[in-house]
Amino acid sequence: MFTKQSLLAFVGALALAAATTITEENPTQAEIDAARATTLPYSPVSNVTGLAFNRFVDIWLENTDYEDAASDENLAKLAKEGILLTNYWAISHPSQPNYCAAAGGDAFGMDSDDFLQIPSNVSTIADLFDTKHISWGEYQEDMPHAGYQGKRYPLDGAKSYVRKHNPLIQFNSVTDDAVRPRQIKNFTTFYEDLKHHSLPQHMFITPNMVNDAHDSNITFAGNWTDRFLSPLLKDEYFTKDSLVLLTFDENDTKPYPNRLFSFLVGGAVPEHLKGTTDDTFYTHYSMIASMSANWGLPSLGRWDCGANLLKMVADKTGYVNWEVDTSNVYLNQTYPGPMSTKGHYSSKWPVPATKGGCSAGHGVAEIVKNTYDRLQPTYNYTSPVPYDAASGNNVGIKYHRTLVCALCFSSL
Ligand SMILES: *[C@@H]1O[C@H](CO)[C@@H](O)[C@H](O)[C@H]1NC(C)=O
Ligand SMILES: *[C@@H]1O[C@H](CO)[C@@H](O)[C@H](O)[C@H]1NC(C)=O
Ligand SMILES: *[C@@H]1O[C@H](CO)[C@@H](O)[C@H](O)[C@H]1NC(C)=O
Ligand SMILES: *[C@@H]1O[C@H](CO)[C@@H](O)[C@H](O)[C@H]1NC(C)=O
Ligand SMILES: *[C@@H]1O[C@H](CO)[C@@H](O)[C@H](O)[C@H]1NC(C)=O
Ligand SMILES: *[C@@H]1O[C@H](CO)[C@@H](O)[C@H](O)[C@H]1NC(C)=O
Ligand SMILES: *[C@@H]1O[C@H](CO)[C@@H](O)[C@H](O)[C@H]1NC(C)=O
Ligand SMILES: *[C@@H]1O[C@H](CO)[C@@H](O)[C@H](O)[C@H]1NC(C)=O
Repeated sequence: MFTKQSLLAFVGALALAAATTITEENPTQAEIDAARATTLPYSPVSNVTGLAFNRFVDIWLENTDYEDAASDENLAKLAKEGILLTNYWAISHPSQPNYCAAAGGDAFGMDSDDFLQIPSNVSTIADLFDTKHISWGEYQEDMPHAGYQGKRYPLDGAKSYVRKHNPLIQFNSVTDDAVRPRQIKNFTTFYEDLKHHSLPQHMFITPNMVNDAHDSNITFAGNWTDRFLSPLLKDEYFTKDSLVLLTFDENDTKPYPNRLFSFLVGGAVPEHLKGTTDDTFYTHYSMIASMSANWGLPSLGRWDCGANLLKMVADKTGYVNWEVDTSNVYLNQTYPGPMSTKGHYSSKWPVPATKGGCSAGHGVAEIVKNTYDRLQPTYNYTSPVPYDAASGNNVGIKYHRTLVCALCFSSL
């Protein structure tokens, strides 16, 4: 049985192992079995009412070009049950920086799928949710136990679970915590939480390497998506007031614009929007900003700060989204930073914004302000497109706002 002491012992062991990442990165099966017996999944619940939804479910498939996903029958059918997003963008290649961005609001120069750990002074969406006790969790298919930090599972043969597809596990502010790792769970626990009505208000869902199309193809992944999602959308507990995003981590063809086939479904999609399309410019960062605006949470002060909000949410807050001229948008590589292992290394950790307004309308998180106060932000994070003038990455993209006059003064 789980006790606080056994958890502390487990966390203590992890802390001791921190310097020698060998155990963390490549544990033995015996170590995995021992950890499974001493750490148990944790499933906090809450019900904080949001402006447009009470639950946000983020499901990511892998490496598929827009047109290929759009022509899959199962995905096309599901998209028609909700809102098709035609202008949703990844932020880089390969996989890992995109998952990192979804949790941390930046990719920190990450340009590989290597085993990387982000220092504890970098905040994530977990810090935002915790300001209002909004329950959160991740469900990672085939992870051998909650909070598992290894690079893959099973240890040999074909990969099923991979760390590079796990957003929050990359951050020491999550893994160093006594409780947070236990909220990163597998699909066994997902179905237990569903049964016990203990699903969190935010969940990030990563299917295994076959179901997500990485080691199969979009037909197989579309079929999986239909079998996974369709019953859930009929389940009153799961779907009521829930907004479900189905998207991909990245496009498959690297020199091309990194636009992704994506759709929103679930009980929170208003009846009159079912079967419609939305061509607002979004990135993975827009989902952080949209959750912040929805629940009244602060910003990370990184690229979530200026990101467009889901139209459904912007319509509730009166925020006017940017219209982005995408003719020069690629978003297919990151700029230099401390997480680069492929030739774009820079020792400088990007400093987030701590002052000024963000699209979500609730300023920057206290924890971010306390850490970075008085430092000059590295980038202009109020832009809806992540860019870097120094490296020339994504520079020259034009965007503007069409102001509805009633909003002219409040939005300028
Ligand atoms: C959350 O609260 C809303 C009312 O604000 C209610 O309709 C909904 O059923 C509640 N959901 C859960 C999971 O308790
Ligand atoms: C993704 O890659 C494909 C190339 O296969 C390309 O046709 C498409 O335009 C890319 N991006 C978008 C915007 O879908
Ligand atoms: C955050 O941690 C990194 C790595 O330890 C360090 O280089 C950086 O200076 C720290 N930033 C601040 C603002 O303390
Ligand atoms: C999922 O995690 C639970 C709890 O940590 C563990 O007992 C179970 O064996 C895991 N399931 C799989 C399929 O690995
Ligand atoms: C798609 O992947 C599945 C499973 O890996 C395989 O059985 C099927 O033949 C593949 N289809 C195509 C068109 O490659
Ligand atoms: C999914 O694949 C199975 C096995 O190939 C097939 O029987 C089923 O009809 C497919 N379902 C959908 C919705 O495509
Ligand atoms: C990104 O796209 C541009 C334009 O096609 C191309 O020159 C560049 O090599 C691409 N970057 C990567 C990492 O593929
Ligand atoms: C930062 O970006 C915002 C939004 O695009 C723009 O209005 C502002 O002028 C930029 N500030 C600087 C210092 O470049």
